[in-house]
Amino acid sequence: MCGIVGYIGSKNCVPILVEGLKRLEYRGYDSAGLGILSNGKSTIVKKKGKVSELEKIIDGKNLIASIGIGHTRWATHGLPNEINAHPHPNSDESILVIHNGIIENYRNLKTLLQKQGYEFKSETDTEVLAHLIDSFYKMGNTLFKSVRLALAEVEGTYGIAVLSKNEPDKIIIAKHGSPLVLGLGDKENFIASDINALIGHTTRVVYLEDGEVAEVYNDRFYTKTIQDEEIKKEVFEITMKLDAIDKNGFDTFMLKEIMEQPESVLNSMRGRLLFDEGTAKLGGLEEVIEKLSKAKRFIITACGTSWHSALVGEYMFEQFLRVPTEVEYASEFRYRNPIINSDDAIFFISQSGETADTLAAMKEAKRKGVLCLGICNAVGSTIARESDAGVYIHAGPEIGVASTKAFTSQLVVLALITLLIARKKDLSLIDGQNIVKEFLTIPEKVKKILLLNDQIEKIADEFKHVDNFLYLGRGYNFPVALEGALKLKEISYIHAEGYPAAEMKHGPIALVDENMPVIFIAPKDSTYDKIMSNIEEIKARKGKIIAIASESDDRIDKIVDYTIKVPDTIRMLMPILTVIPLQLLAYHIAIKKGLNVDQPRNLAKSVTVE
Ligand code: M6R
Repeated sequence: MCGIVGYIGSKNCVPILVEGLKRLEYRGYDSAGLGILSNGKSTIVKKKGKVSELEKIIDGKNLIASIGIGHTRWATHGLPNEINAHPHPNSDESILVIHNGIIENYRNLKTLLQKQGYEFKSETDTEVLAHLIDSFYKMGNTLFKSVRLALAEVEGTYGIAVLSKNEPDKIIIAKHGSPLVLGLGDKENFIASDINALIGHTTRVVYLEDGEVAEVYNDRFYTKTIQDEEIKKEVFEITMKLDAIDKNGFDTFMLKEIMEQPESVLNSMRGRLLFDEGTAKLGGLEEVIEKLSKAKRFIITACGTSWHSALVGEYMFEQFLRVPTEVEYASEFRYRNPIINSDDAIFFISQSGETADTLAAMKEAKRKGVLCLGICNAVGSTIARESDAGVYIHAGPEIGVASTKAFTSQLVVLALITLLIARKKDLSLIDGQNIVKEFLTIPEKVKKILLLNDQIEKIADEFKHVDNFLYLGRGYNFPVALEGALKLKEISYIHAEGYPAAEMKHGPIALVDENMPVIFIAPKDSTYDKIMSNIEEIKARKGKIIAIASESDDRIDKIVDYTIKVPDTIRMLMPILTVIPLQLLAYHIAIKKGLNVDQPRNLAKSVTVE
């Protein structure tokens, strides 16, 4: 939530900041703003709406400065309007603050500051920071120290960047719970919420950790803890290229990311399959594989789409490893004092690696001393860095708010982990080799499904005006039903529910009539006959049925209204295929409704607040 950028150097920072904000806009897009320092003056420009709205007003202003900060907001406190947009200044606008996160004790701090005569203009928690820093600055402290002292009073989460016109040669940044990365250039430095904003400017980055504050000049930086201890930071090289965050000719990031899936699933398995040994090789798990294979229970925790892939993981682990597996919403796990045993292993799945609930769940689990494993996409993200071990899914940057290619890559990685552990246990070489062979067919099968785009678009046209959808699946495809429903609701705003197909008789069937489209995920697997009975039950109530079915199935066409055929594969890998038509269906329905699929209302890509 919220994107932060900053620049200090010799170039005009304004276009750099605007470009950085555009690349971070997926983190929040209800308002945007810039704060710059030049000729002893501070200037703030803010605008409700997207970065393009901000850009329009900047264009007429001839703003030039070599130091500045920028923000794109996902509102937590106060309406998305110009007053609540960042930066927030102190009273004389000498100090400017941008913030990502939530200051939980802001009401108390605000009352204290009001008693000291501070007046507040916005409804945000962030404005408290500007005045609090100001109060320490007025006591004669440097900006760096004032920020540290202010943050020592703060409870909550933050990634902040602070400027002062009285110290115009530096940007102060600090992090607790919300990501911040420093990009090191040649006599210029950059600040960003994530590396997307740094690509093309530098490949050398420093990740700030919780409780750290940095004083960033154009040619150097100093890092301390909030408690004033000096710390030395490691510099990392990033390899991401600019085209990875480009639409590459597609109208939307979402469509680009759906269409990229033949390569993204291939990238997730590239170099990780060993045919001769019938197993997988996952460098990130090598040090913990013995412990992992002996785990008596797995817990997988995540949010949203990543939670759906965790559910598929549960089926995989239980089918092949015969180890009890529990899937938990990270937001629930973190607060209910979960029972954790020393021989458990806990997986944390997160595309962004920054989701606040998943991160907090991991911190809680780490406190209890259990093996914590990250499955992340964003390289260098907090969950990736702070887990004991883990696996990157290598899907490449996912910019569209609706997760698509990250989901299929998460499924690939969960299947690889399953194969790796299963071969340590009792899966035979032949069975392992058969799975490896099947893995290798998946990218081509994904490509084949994407050729159904036109057919799916036509189906979308039939259903773009409906108000409700039901998604039903069994076994491995029950989580796919949940994911299909989530995709539709988040980008088309159509109410959709996913259910285990048989569960439908226990309530949701009451909703079914000729106006209710029902999507069945019904490939030919061990649940096929059962799901065919469920299809008949819906048909008897005149529900319109769309089935995602196996290519080899000619029985189903005679019963349902629309079929979308996908190639066959083994059960474990089937969700990678069956979900793709559902991504495309949601996409086309939303586009036909004229909606912005990349930035759906009220959402943000990375939920870094509770
Ligand atoms: O980055 P994460 O995987 O941790 O994100 C979890 C959810 O916020 C995310 O999957 C969300 O549900 C997406 N909008 C789904 O498309």
